[in-house]
Amino acid sequence: MTTSLFLFPILLAALALPLQKSIGIVAMHMQLLHNDRVVIYDRTDFGFSNLSLPNGRCRKNEKELAVKTDCTAHSVEYDVVSNSFRALFIQTDVWCSSGSVSPNGTLVQTGGFNDGERKVRTYSPCSTCDWQELENGLVARRWYATNHKLPDGGQIIIGGRRQFNYEFYPKTEASAKNTYSLPFLVQTNEPRIENNLYPFVFLNVDGNLFIFANNKAILFNYTNNIVVKTFPQIPGGDPRSYPSSGSAVLLPLKHLQAAVIEAEVLVCGGAPKGSFEQASKGHFIEALNTCARVKVTDPNPNWVMETMPGGRVMSDMVMLPNGNVLIVNGAGSGTAGWRYGRNPVLNPFLYKTNSPLGSRFELQNASTIPRMYHSTAVLVRDGRVLVAGSNPNVYYNFTNVMFPTELSVEAFSPSYLEPGFDNVRPRIVSPASQSQIMYGQKLEVKFNVKGAVSQNLVLVTMLSPPFTTHSYSMNQRMLMLEPKSVKNVNGTTYQVEVTTPGSPILAPPGFYLLFVVHQDIPSEGIWVQIQ
Ligand SMILES: *[C@@H]1O[C@H](CO)[C@@H](O)[C@H](O)[C@H]1NC(C)=O
Ligand SMILES: *[C@@H]1O[C@H](CO)[C@@H](O)[C@H](O)[C@H]1NC(C)=O
Ligand SMILES: *[C@@H]1O[C@H](CO)[C@@H](O)[C@H](O)[C@H]1NC(C)=O
Ligand SMILES: *[C@@H]1O[C@H](CO)[C@@H](O)[C@H](O)[C@H]1NC(C)=O
Ligand SMILES: *[C@@H]1O[C@H](CO)[C@@H](O)[C@H](O)[C@H]1NC(C)=O
Ligand SMILES: *[C@@H]1O[C@H](CO)[C@@H](O)[C@H](O)[C@H]1NC(C)=O
Repeated sequence: MTTSLFLFPILLAALALPLQKSIGIVAMHMQLLHNDRVVIYDRTDFGFSNLSLPNGRCRKNEKELAVKTDCTAHSVEYDVVSNSFRALFIQTDVWCSSGSVSPNGTLVQTGGFNDGERKVRTYSPCSTCDWQELENGLVARRWYATNHKLPDGGQIIIGGRRQFNYEFYPKTEASAKNTYSLPFLVQTNEPRIENNLYPFVFLNVDGNLFIFANNKAILFNYTNNIVVKTFPQIPGGDPRSYPSSGSAVLLPLKHLQAAVIEAEVLVCGGAPKGSFEQASKGHFIEALNTCARVKVTDPNPNWVMETMPGGRVMSDMVMLPNGNVLIVNGAGSGTAGWRYGRNPVLNPFLYKTNSPLGSRFELQNASTIPRMYHSTAVLVRDGRVLVAGSNPNVYYNFTNVMFPTELSVEAFSPSYLEPGFDNVRPRIVSPASQSQIMYGQKLEVKFNVKGAVSQNLVLVTMLSPPFTTHSYSMNQRMLMLEPKSVKNVNGTTYQVEVTTPGSPILAPPGFYLLFVVHQDIPSEGIWVQIQ
């Protein structure tokens, strides 16, 4: 049974976004919320942005590094549907922080730098809301940490610079008032380079966490602090996490009704060992052109290597509605860090998850704007990918720098949006967007298709929109709901019956985008809230 939750204005197809638009700040961190608005922020310690705070408001902060009185914004809310944005107000420094959306749709952001390093801030989705800085924050400072949503709706916060431990949020339970040591982060830490920041973390189908840092991974029981499994090192041994900044995704979870559900992780790109020291001396080594794919649930897991059409570092991996992965942004040589990237890679690569090994990559149309350090990319409901940010320079310098501070947001259209596919493109009729669904329920989805329907090529997918920063999308998670039956209702209207994910381990509670996919072409999404 589905019930409509909120009454949002009818959201129309918004393909009218101009190619580029300045939002006045650098999109270093992005999160799409269930009102089709993207919360974006950069940092407070780099001087004046190009966007004034409204109503003459200013931020006065004696602890601030660049300017003590700042009347410019360092966060915005971008409204995808109207292609407009408004300034938000941040009090303490959110630089290189992390976050997760709670089950009710509120973004819970944690940590940062300087006076912001232990702060927790929330942002509720509404057209007049702003950041709330909470009184009780984190136990440890968290700068370059990774967050992941847990089946109970809370979140775990792992690592960060010189933090070889983790903690939980919210702080209501007694167990959330401590930190817990994680020796894996010591083992993967290279002194001075710290090639284990922003570790890649995914909730496995057995309830343990897959944690990847540097070139290694473990399966980890976070409730009892036990390493359940140690994965072999990625062949070649090159580092893949910050500042080597490859990227990683949990591939779509499928066959959710099967007795044994499989999970696979894909890690792509990065910078070879030694790149960071070399970049600091002015030598920019070619980035890694390999991906490594591992079956997390395999009793004897092995990394299977694949070769991309080119090397890339600092790229984002964006899960598309049809289960393919877009690899976008980044550089062909160098590493993450100030002025350490060279040779921007303007062509995204499409990774076709289910194609045979050796024929999974496809080049996509190029952008014109280099998206280097501190760039981001997120999927929005209509299937486009918002691409933004790059290279904030001190005092937001736009001149006499190799890659100027980049304030633009642009929309990348994957090839499935080409008009040639309009005849096979599904359009969801029901349920209504913002519906609530339960675990393991039957769900009937009605959709229209103009042309002929191949009933065995219909899929329903559910995607958890991630928190994206530093080439990694936290909480990005796709579930494939296999259709039990597809039938014609009347004329061009069809109905597909699926079963929703069976547990919060498969799909932590909260808002997801639900798509119907036909012959690999996705519909626009609708929002559903699972609980
Ligand atoms: C900064 O904003 C001003 C107007 O407020 C605009 O003219 C200028 O082009 C902007 N700079 C950049 C780099 O976007
Ligand atoms: C939503 O969740 C956040 C974070 O857990 C909490 O602070 C907030 O009070 C909740 N809002 C409502 C309306 O329940
Ligand atoms: C973690 O370990 C405890 C104690 O052995 C066990 O009860 C729990 O089920 C484990 N969690 C997972 C997700 O396996
Ligand atoms: C910013 O740019 C100006 C103009 O090119 C330059 O003079 C200045 O040194 C730059 N400031 C910093 C901090 O890089
Ligand atoms: C990609 O470029 C080709 C050639 O210019 C064009 O025909 C096609 O429409 C473009 N695709 C998208 C999704 O913009
Ligand atoms: C076809 O079915 C849809 C969905 O149930 C309904 O909204 C629509 O009115 C029907 N159209 C006709 C012509 O019966």
